[in-house]
Amino acid sequence: MAADSASAPPEQPSGAESTQNITPWDVQGGADGKIDYDRLCRQFGCSRLSDSHIERVERLTGMKPHPLLRRGVFFSHRDFEAILDAHEQGKPWYLYTGRGPSSEALHLGHLVPFMFTKWLQDAFKVPLVIQLTDDEKFLWRDLELAESERLAHENIKDIIACGFDVNKTFIFTDFKYRSGHFNRNITSISRLVTFNSIRAIFGLKGEDCIGKIAFPATQAAPAFPTSFPHMFGQRKDIRCLIPCAIDQDPYFRMTRDVAPKLGFHKCSLIMSRFFPALQGESGKMNASDPNSAIFVTDSAKQIKNKLNKYALTGGQDTKELQIKHGANLEVDVPWKYLNFFLDDDAELAEIGKRYSEGDESMMSGHVKKRLAEVLAEIVLRHQEARKNVTDAVVDSFTSPRDMTSCLHH
Ligand code: TRP
Repeated sequence: MAADSASAPPEQPSGAESTQNITPWDVQGGADGKIDYDRLCRQFGCSRLSDSHIERVERLTGMKPHPLLRRGVFFSHRDFEAILDAHEQGKPWYLYTGRGPSSEALHLGHLVPFMFTKWLQDAFKVPLVIQLTDDEKFLWRDLELAESERLAHENIKDIIACGFDVNKTFIFTDFKYRSGHFNRNITSISRLVTFNSIRAIFGLKGEDCIGKIAFPATQAAPAFPTSFPHMFGQRKDIRCLIPCAIDQDPYFRMTRDVAPKLGFHKCSLIMSRFFPALQGESGKMNASDPNSAIFVTDSAKQIKNKLNKYALTGGQDTKELQIKHGANLEVDVPWKYLNFFLDDDAELAEIGKRYSEGDESMMSGHVKKRLAEVLAEIVLRHQEARKNVTDAVVDSFTSPRDMTSCLHH
């Protein structure tokens, strides 16, 4: 099936859509700056999550699905059914996610996949591996090797602060963990992928360094359970589910192509939309622009100021016009952020209704004020949790220890 072949030629762009370009390194919306997620799904060949998937998650876990799932932030998948079927049949599986450590402070967009992954781990009670690709950022960014290792170490603390279960979670950096069975899998994968297909999938050129050509095998290997003998022994039959933003799909299309050739199941994916910048939906937030994002290190006051100063509003220019026309929720960034982070469905619906209808008790200032409270609470909780993440705690997550019992609920 063409849709599942990693080397399928990308769909030809046309007309106004033609500037949309999404790769693991660059997210560029179409002519209007917006991302056409339907088109992206078609182009990548992945599927939409449906209500029936979400109902199955609820049935299998006995938990109300996470807001990021209920509200379609995680909206796309590959073979998610295979994971739900395995779970239903009592077969083991694990979660795999990761981060490229390119900046010291994480912004809220960085937390989204980890918040969701934590929920999945708690709901399904499954093991989790988290890869920090310090090698990737060393190859792609102008970073000293030691600096990318340092950033990985700092990022690990923020990841741990999201609340993962130490008995079921292994966090590793590529520079330190790359040996043994992980390295064997990397090399076995790299023997099966040609330079031609890497060029087609990732758009690399002759001038790119050979490290970039080889790197995709390193992001692929954690999707194979034998990369973690201290967790899964030599079992090849354990399925893997990868929560990630949809820009990571090219890596895993490649991974799925080689999996059966090495005797593994194809990994499954559950993929999210991008988290919008304060200035609007034209791509991912840029960690190097402090005004484009709310950082987990921001104070309540900074959050409030940034929202007031930089958040793109869908509200009207004057009170009179707002009462007359109501807000345009399509473009309103505070409204979008509330959809990510406000748990209470009833309150969210009420805000959306009044704000879009021009109720004068729900102007853009009120929405921003409520959002500032919600975000300050999350960020404060994160800061408190991170304070307790000592180097010893980092070690407890990153040392390859006997975790073979992690497969049992
Ligand atoms: N390449 C990803 C990034 O730059 C990091 C990453 C590695 C990852 N493995 C992953 C992300 C698995 C999601 C899932 O951020």
